Amino acid sequence: MVKKHTGWIFNNDNGEFSLDNPDCSNFLYFPLANEAGIMSAITPTLHGDIKTGQNNYLTAPVTSLDLNNTRSAMNFWVYTPNKAPWSLAGNSPRQIEDRMKEVREEEVKLEAGFLYHKIIRKNNKLGLKSEIINFVPVENDKVELMKVSITNLSDETISLNPTAAIPIYARSADNIRDHRHVTSLLNRAETTEYGVLVKPTLSFDERGHKKNNVTYYVLGAEDNGEAPVGFLADMEEYIGESGNLEWPEAIVKNSLFKGKGQNTDGYEAIGAIRFNNIDLKKGEEKNYILAFGVNFETDLDIKEKYLNLDKFNNELEKNKNYWGDKLSTLSFESGDNSYDNWMKWVTLQPILRRIYGCSFLPHHDYGRGGRGWRDLWQDLLALLIMEPKQVRELLLNNYSGVRIDGTNATIIGSKPGEFLADRNNIPRVWMDHGAWPFLTTKLYLDQSGDLDFLLEEQDYFKDGKVSRCLETDESFDGSLGNRLRDVNGNKYTGTILEHILVENLSSFFNVGDHNNIKLESADWNDGLDMASAKGESVAFTALYGSNILDLSKILLKLKQIKNIESVYLAEEIIILLDSISGQINYQDVAAKKDLLNKYYEKTKNSVSGVKIEIDIEELACDLSRKGQSIIEHIRENELVVNKEGYEWFNGYYDNNGKQVEGDNDLGTRMILTSQVFTIMGGVAEDDQVKKIVSSCDKYLKDLKVGGYRLNTNFNEVKLDMGRLFGFAFGHKENGAMFSHMAIMYGNALYKRGFVKEGYEVINSIYTHCSDFEKSRIYPGIPEYINEKGRGMYNYLTGSASWLLLTVLNEIYGVKGELGDLIIEPKLLKQQFDKNKQAKVTSIFKGKNIKVSYKNESLKDYGEYKISKVLVNEKNISINQGEKVVIGKDVLEKLDIKDTININVELS
Ligand code: G1P
Repeated sequence: MVKKHTGWIFNNDNGEFSLDNPDCSNFLYFPLANEAGIMSAITPTLHGDIKTGQNNYLTAPVTSLDLNNTRSAMNFWVYTPNKAPWSLAGNSPRQIEDRMKEVREEEVKLEAGFLYHKIIRKNNKLGLKSEIINFVPVENDKVELMKVSITNLSDETISLNPTAAIPIYARSADNIRDHRHVTSLLNRAETTEYGVLVKPTLSFDERGHKKNNVTYYVLGAEDNGEAPVGFLADMEEYIGESGNLEWPEAIVKNSLFKGKGQNTDGYEAIGAIRFNNIDLKKGEEKNYILAFGVNFETDLDIKEKYLNLDKFNNELEKNKNYWGDKLSTLSFESGDNSYDNWMKWVTLQPILRRIYGCSFLPHHDYGRGGRGWRDLWQDLLALLIMEPKQVRELLLNNYSGVRIDGTNATIIGSKPGEFLADRNNIPRVWMDHGAWPFLTTKLYLDQSGDLDFLLEEQDYFKDGKVSRCLETDESFDGSLGNRLRDVNGNKYTGTILEHILVENLSSFFNVGDHNNIKLESADWNDGLDMASAKGESVAFTALYGSNILDLSKILLKLKQIKNIESVYLAEEIIILLDSISGQINYQDVAAKKDLLNKYYEKTKNSVSGVKIEIDIEELACDLSRKGQSIIEHIRENELVVNKEGYEWFNGYYDNNGKQVEGDNDLGTRMILTSQVFTIMGGVAEDDQVKKIVSSCDKYLKDLKVGGYRLNTNFNEVKLDMGRLFGFAFGHKENGAMFSHMAIMYGNALYKRGFVKEGYEVINSIYTHCSDFEKSRIYPGIPEYINEKGRGMYNYLTGSASWLLLTVLNEIYGVKGELGDLIIEPKLLKQQFDKNKQAKVTSIFKGKNIKVSYKNESLKDYGEYKISKVLVNEKNISINQGEKVVIGKDVLEKLDIKDTININVELS
């Protein structure tokens, strides 16, 4: 068989795909997880790791490089007399050699779907075929299941000795370097009727030495439920003095295994399970079921629940249905079936990030669980359109992480609304953090029309850090918990509106020498972390500007729709509303800083608890004046025109107070982020957007990496900006195609009506990712594409949320506007299928919504208009145009029960 990568292909409309020779691509991994908290990563050679969190790894934690460099994998061997043992996972020296050959001895194929992983391996010489399926059942158990099927392809009967071998690490990821050997002394392994259990005596990590109650297990049975015949739990004994996991003595020498009821104390462990010898006749198949995981309870009967073929098949079916149902809430139909299927994998990604956080897949080798503030809010964007039921509460809870100075807690607990004081006492403020909550809340308000949400009360986070972490509140000792109190010691609460105001206004005043908001410890780009003294982020100043303007408009709607004349705010906040309390000049940097310091002085330890009534129009006016001042300031001061005549916005000042973008002795410096927020928020006027697009095409576009790079090559380790300039150019935050920002660029272009340009951005990413020879990733969007064109950090990236949002709200144009339904397609001609249709399924106000466009004359965007709209077969009167608003009153009158079917004619 000739080895060649044809890339993955989708086998049906359910996202299931297959890939030949997957074991010849070294960095592939696939996630397997459930809501109970088991998180696995699996490769085509069954490497990877399985865990429930930082402190409970069943198999040893791996980084991407370890995936194929460690010999530790889930292996399954068959020993045939007079022949070399065969690894069904492909992990033996001969099979590794085979992977490099142009003509392979083994035929290997991956099939995968939501959310299972199947590896099929044929060895014609041996006359054997194996099929291994792994998945994590959707039950409330922390267990992964694996079925191994062996088929005799030859004409002869083959005698086999089958053995499963899964190394058991059984401890915290920290112990990989911290007392790896010493912690093996804690191991207490026991063989039972069905496998190996390891229950270390103590857990030995940063939490201290505690009695351990967790059991790690590897169990197995034949398809009919019959128990194995022998076990080895001691790794040393299994590999022998001269072998290793890819050529273990116990397999190669076909050693005798031990019976049940044996204890092995104080050694590295393995779940090596020997099954009965079999004589496999021509065409015959034999199955083995394995179950392995982490058990926190005492009475989980794995054998009863999972260890036979019927149960396995049943759970696999349940699993496919569960994920299928979940993902069906958002789906797209266009002219390109492969793209529609690819989008299903993108739809899965925000759910995976909810489960894994920003850790626990092999590229995320720094994560210890949880996720950051920014990710918390952005992941909600996708959940808002996929799992909207729980979102109101999550949003409300998340606001309790805001401090009264406008910054927020950085350590986010695992439960909703759980924010912890920074255990390392690191005083860091990311200047963009205050901008995301409003963006997500605005999407929520638009989808739901639930303006009352703004007036819900929530408390504030409090710790010893004040004045944007520049000062310490010595009076705070934490004895009353991490909640802000008033002068009388009562827990203080304010409205969600108040929280949003505090976040955006404190940022508004926190400017540097050039009157842009200070960069502080970094902005969205975590790598811009070395310019806290004089650095400024014009890019995010633009986002704050548009936020403040949008909030001002929403306040007017609050008055108009809800008849609310005034709101109550903490009396200290009046300082920040200077148009009401004593107007300052917004061009005066010192005046801005003074005002902010006054506010900080007043709120340093506590608040008075007194609320004052503010007229809503006056408040809206104050915000509008502030937002406008930002926009004018950037327009007047930050436009760059370089010597080649290209034009764009400067987005940064470095730690020497120097403008970052533009021409320089070392080359042209341009950053995509600076363009994204000036375009998205309307700082750039239409003709400027055109110019910016040409500049991006000139300096940032590179199809080798899937589209638009995050920045040009600065050719300098720019220590007055941040660590990212230490990364080689073209990698991660230094000039890679960084999906998150590139997708936001596409989103911004669509928002501004630059549809062909927006399509180009999104399409170049898709085209690159789906070209397996280049991207070397399974379907889905990675965090970035590196200089070699490889997709990196697949699955766990905020870009997935932004992509879904862009495709649904902008490309298909289905979105909410304070509860009204907007239909405004921005589909290009080529995005309609052969029936000249394009369809999208989503959720709107708790109901399924299916919008079908018919473009009979196959006109392009800009040429077609919406000419007819049917809602559940009833004609809706519309003004022909590019956009139709279906008011909440119209939808209410139609009294729709479950599904809103909308048929839209374009002509
Ligand atoms: C990651 C982080 C995100 C950060 C970005 C740039 O992006 O999760 O918070 O803003 O890097 O530093 P993501 O993985 O979401 O694509």
